[in-house]
Amino acid sequence: VSASAPIVVLDSGLGGLTVVRALMEAGPNEQILYFGDTARLPYGNKTGETVSGFVRQMIAYLLPWRPKQVIIACNTASALALPGVRGEFPGLAITGVIEPGAKAAAAAGGAKQAPCIGIIATEATIRSKAYDRAIHRRRNYAKLLLRPTPLLVPMIEEGRKADDPVVRLAMKQYLQPFARHPLDVMVLGCTHYPIYKNLIQEMLGPHVSVIDSARQCAEDVTRRLASHGLLRPVMKMQGNPGDAAPADGASGNLRCFVTDDPARFQRLAPRFLNREIDPPILVRPQELYAREPMPLGETA
Ligand code: DGL
Repeated sequence: VSASAPIVVLDSGLGGLTVVRALMEAGPNEQILYFGDTARLPYGNKTGETVSGFVRQMIAYLLPWRPKQVIIACNTASALALPGVRGEFPGLAITGVIEPGAKAAAAAGGAKQAPCIGIIATEATIRSKAYDRAIHRRRNYAKLLLRPTPLLVPMIEEGRKADDPVVRLAMKQYLQPFARHPLDVMVLGCTHYPIYKNLIQEMLGPHVSVIDSARQCAEDVTRRLASHGLLRPVMKMQGNPGDAAPADGASGNLRCFVTDDPARFQRLAPRFLNREIDPPILVRPQELYAREPMPLGETA
């Protein structure tokens, strides 16, 4: 694996861009290949078998770029597909967002013996119990309150902002049950949700630590790449003492692939990234199915 190789980031749609933004802040010279499976979103109401198939196809499609790291920037896909997909691509570094989110939540519980930790996520993530296991491994006595919030992903993908009355109403209903408990921490267990982080913080109050699994994941990956000498090297430019550029000449950048409506993705992406993106490349699902890798053990 080479330090100049790209980082692959996958999600069902726009949500994983919250991880991309944090990655760009942590390692601004990296080349990132982002795949948003916009034709088959949402993942949150689908089965593990279906979601694992989608994830496997996207990784197989981007494999020729020889990535140094694959990030499944989707809690649902991390919960349902990560162990299986790791087994199917031995030798490829694949990481998810649940472990980093759980780690940050456990730490945010502070000195309390039994912190009260809320988790909002898709139905599939809640059903998988992946967060329960990952948090309880670190904090045995944590009291967990989990609630699926399935309307949030479609509202975010529709481009609805946090001040939209429909968003506020849905959020109020979803967060109401948490108010009956002395909540210490709230985990945003879906990479789409950081878009509404301020609204969630406002509704829960300042005493609740709101944890963003996207940020924690990006920081963990950057730290791990740095410790293995795999961050893209930076070279000082001669004559411009303050300037720095990657040693291989190209600067860090982002290339997006989507399975439907590239124009829509390009229009909505700046809300997540705070910058414009180049037109995404359309890869139709038919193309992904046609390239489907053979399951391990089967021969043609
Ligand atoms: N960003 C995905 C997650 O973190 C959304 C899943 C969906 O498409 O429903 O779970």
